[in-house]
Amino acid sequence: MLPDVYISDTPEAAALAVAERMFAAAKVKTKLSLPFNVAVSGGNTPKLLFNLLATRYVDSFPWHFVRLFWVDERCVPPVHPESNFGMTYETLLKHVPIPDQNIFRMIGESDPQKEAKRYGDLLLNQLPVKKSLPLFDFILLGMGDDGHTASIFPNQLELLDALEPVAVATYPATGQKRITLTGQVINAANQVAFLITGSSKATVLNQILRREPGFEKYPTSYIHSANGSTCFFIDKEAGNK
Ligand code: 6PG
Repeated sequence: MLPDVYISDTPEAAALAVAERMFAAAKVKTKLSLPFNVAVSGGNTPKLLFNLLATRYVDSFPWHFVRLFWVDERCVPPVHPESNFGMTYETLLKHVPIPDQNIFRMIGESDPQKEAKRYGDLLLNQLPVKKSLPLFDFILLGMGDDGHTASIFPNQLELLDALEPVAVATYPATGQKRITLTGQVINAANQVAFLITGSSKATVLNQILRREPGFEKYPTSYIHSANGSTCFFIDKEAGNK
């Protein structure tokens, strides 16, 4: 079954569609006075969404019910220009009132193996668990030009099926170590939303969405929430194939 794909005219419109979907999901949990457990990706694309959340939604989003986790983190300190936490802090966290105790940073400056274990245990303690998997309400993903998502790269497909909820990955281009959620945790989420923009993603995204020959080498091809919905929010550029 093909995932739901929503094509917007511009990257900003695609980000707005994700914000609306996230807002709706958060309101459902808030109405039940339950926390909204969300994991976000890094890179550049999420900045579109975070800027929206920090402005248009700054007063309406139920920030005090949000518990924020990361999909992945580069093994660098939070002040490093490549830090996903650092990017999220600058574009979102310093603008919205998420309680500090609700922000669960992956500690990029720690020993990678120790941090993967720590963060995996933290997820199992902090989130509902089903079949040994921590359950997120919402996971925001991006996709690299090579079809990777989270920090699961084409040459590390075994991370899709890893038993540990969090693992150490290696960014192929530089050898940089990363901490990442593994595939089973992502697929256990209630909602998975990809935000993918730009023509550089179009060819690979088309292969993945149409299950064209070669799709199986891309980690993004294996992401489909078993318990809920998986949606692709893309702009016309990323959907131009
Ligand atoms: C990261 C992200 C990664 C990202 C893709 C797309 O840590 O880099 O989690 O999976 O989503 O690389 O990155 P862009 O949004 O910058 O294209």
